[in-house]
Amino acid sequence: MEFDFSLIIHSIPLLLRGAGLTLEITALAVGLGLLIGLVASLAQLSKSPLLRLPAKVYVDCIRGTPLLIQIFIIYFALPNIIGHRIDPFIAAVTACSLNSGAYIAEIFRGGIQSISQGQFRAGLSLGMTYGQTMRYIVLPQAFKRIIPPLGNEFIAMLKDSSLVSVIGFEELTRSGQLIIAETYGTLEIWTCVAIIYLTLTLTISRFVAALEKRFRKSDDR
Ligand code: ARG
Repeated sequence: MEFDFSLIIHSIPLLLRGAGLTLEITALAVGLGLLIGLVASLAQLSKSPLLRLPAKVYVDCIRGTPLLIQIFIIYFALPNIIGHRIDPFIAAVTACSLNSGAYIAEIFRGGIQSISQGQFRAGLSLGMTYGQTMRYIVLPQAFKRIIPPLGNEFIAMLKDSSLVSVIGFEELTRSGQLIIAETYGTLEIWTCVAIIYLTLTLTISRFVAALEKRFRKSDDR
């Protein structure tokens, strides 16, 4: 079997377009996931069971079921309830954000709980409210600690976003499938798709490492 380089050259523009959409879905999912995760983590840490319980159920349900099934539920099952179809892009972003939100909630919770109780007490004894202590003292410190796991989540989401290919959204994996359906170039295209994913994830992990270093330096001052 021969490796057909010209097939790769011809497919690159389509694959890069797919890679752009993969990045877009991932950035939106993790961006929205950060908001959902922050709210869910604070709710989980709250004293009120009315906030704690729904947050716990959300995190458990999302982490306890496969992302693939969540995509199926949002794209195929939800339209039966709301009465109209959902655009694959909206379904993909919704499923991935809800999913990422649950993982990020746990990352935030771990980060917040790792800040010593003394910091809370210091804030409260300065006359700050619980909210102010959280916002000005605890969260900024927690945020530095959660940069590495957040970077992991971004990389994991980037790879897991390939699952939205099942609803026909043309991100990187789906673009590869479509090119193969026309050209039969399985070896060339899947190799190329893998290399593009690898390039993306390596670039992101470098970026996260640089960010971490920068925060560490600002800590040393
Ligand atoms: N692969 C796991 C699943 O199917 C995790 C997916 C979510 N990944 C993530 N980084 N949020 O459930």
